Amino acid sequence: MTGGIAAYKSVHLARLLGEAGAEVQTVLTAAATRFVGADTFSGLTGFPAHVSLWEQPGEVLHVRMAHEADMAIVAPATANIIAKLAHGIADDLLTATLLEARCPILIAPAMHTGMWEHPATRGNVSILASRDVRFVGPESGSLAHGDEGVGRLAEPEAIFAAATELAGGRRDLEGRRILITAGPTHEPIDPVRFLGNRSSGKMGVALATEAAARGADVIFVLGPGTVSPPPGVQTVNVTTAQEMRDAVLETFPEADAVIMAAAVADFRPKKVTPGKIKKEDGMPELILEPTPDILSELGRTRTRQLLVGFAAETTGVEEAGREKLRRKGLDLVVANLVGQGGTGFGSDTNEAAILSADGEDEPLRPWTKRDLAQAVLDRVAALFEIR
Ligand SMILES: Cc1cc2nc3c(=O)[nH]c(=O)nc-3n(C[C@H](O)[C@H](O)[C@H](O)COP(=O)(O)O)c2cc1C
Repeated sequence: MTGGIAAYKSVHLARLLGEAGAEVQTVLTAAATRFVGADTFSGLTGFPAHVSLWEQPGEVLHVRMAHEADMAIVAPATANIIAKLAHGIADDLLTATLLEARCPILIAPAMHTGMWEHPATRGNVSILASRDVRFVGPESGSLAHGDEGVGRLAEPEAIFAAATELAGGRRDLEGRRILITAGPTHEPIDPVRFLGNRSSGKMGVALATEAAARGADVIFVLGPGTVSPPPGVQTVNVTTAQEMRDAVLETFPEADAVIMAAAVADFRPKKVTPGKIKKEDGMPELILEPTPDILSELGRTRTRQLLVGFAAETTGVEEAGREKLRRKGLDLVVANLVGQGGTGFGSDTNEAAILSADGEDEPLRPWTKRDLAQAVLDRVAALFEIR
């Protein structure tokens, strides 16, 4: 990160990279620290952010960092750093690290139009481009000091997408619209109480993050809970199974695939008591009724959409999953084990089987939710290809 006003946008970029599973190590030039605090990045990434060549006695920091990195992103990149990189100057931690590094380098320039269009900068950009350094942006728009023109830092999402591509990341879901549901639903009993379940929404967040990184246009329908939706993903917040059904059906016609990772309640109280039920009135009796079966409805009304369901079971996981696949007319079912510590609801891992209508099954085994999301989306991408 170098010394430009747009440095604040790199906070969001670091977050996007971290949420996609990258280990983000931050180096700021002295000028960058005039705009953002190193501590912000240490707190956000979980790794200490560095500024000086001399700050770690007994360690040659720029060499270690250069050798560890799989990719370097300079965002924002000043006219000054572009000039220094083009000419091999290494007079601070960032320039010394980048001169030692042999990993791919992505540069996101940000500066006033005069600086960007100056023949010196044009020449420096050409030198770097001829060495296979990649550039993203700058864009045209409003600049610091109330000016307009070319030189604006690319948006963090665009830098993230360029980094994904440079890392050899797949963009195999580009142009596909994928609807993903996540989290539990809450079914009201009275204004203060509800029936719920232990789903956290983490599996759905892993799916939405991965699908967006691979280029999909994601619509994320999220039930109540503690997880935050992935940044940059269009999110619809819902509470009840009925609200989730309505949100899903509204966007279903434009979707190419639906992944129902939400744990939608199967039953709800038949009658919602308008005022709080009082203890003094004696033990209430709850009469339940079924909630709308969203997946079955999608299975009946789908035209071209791929349908992926999740089956959460405490026993007989694969059998129950296979039965759900058939009964609801789905393309894939992720059958997962819940109700045991360390797997399923609320945890970062899942014990799951991927069951497919074409018979290509992956047997029950432990996964991180991120790896499971990748495997499910690999299947979805492959199914798009053969359709
Ligand atoms: C308020 C302010 C904003 C600046 N914004 C930019 C900028 O967006 N792009 C740029 O190339 N330089 C900008 N500069 C100038 C750089 O900070 C200056 O060239 C500095 O030496 C860059 O050091 P670095 O490349 O080591 O970070 C700005 C300076 C100030 C005072």
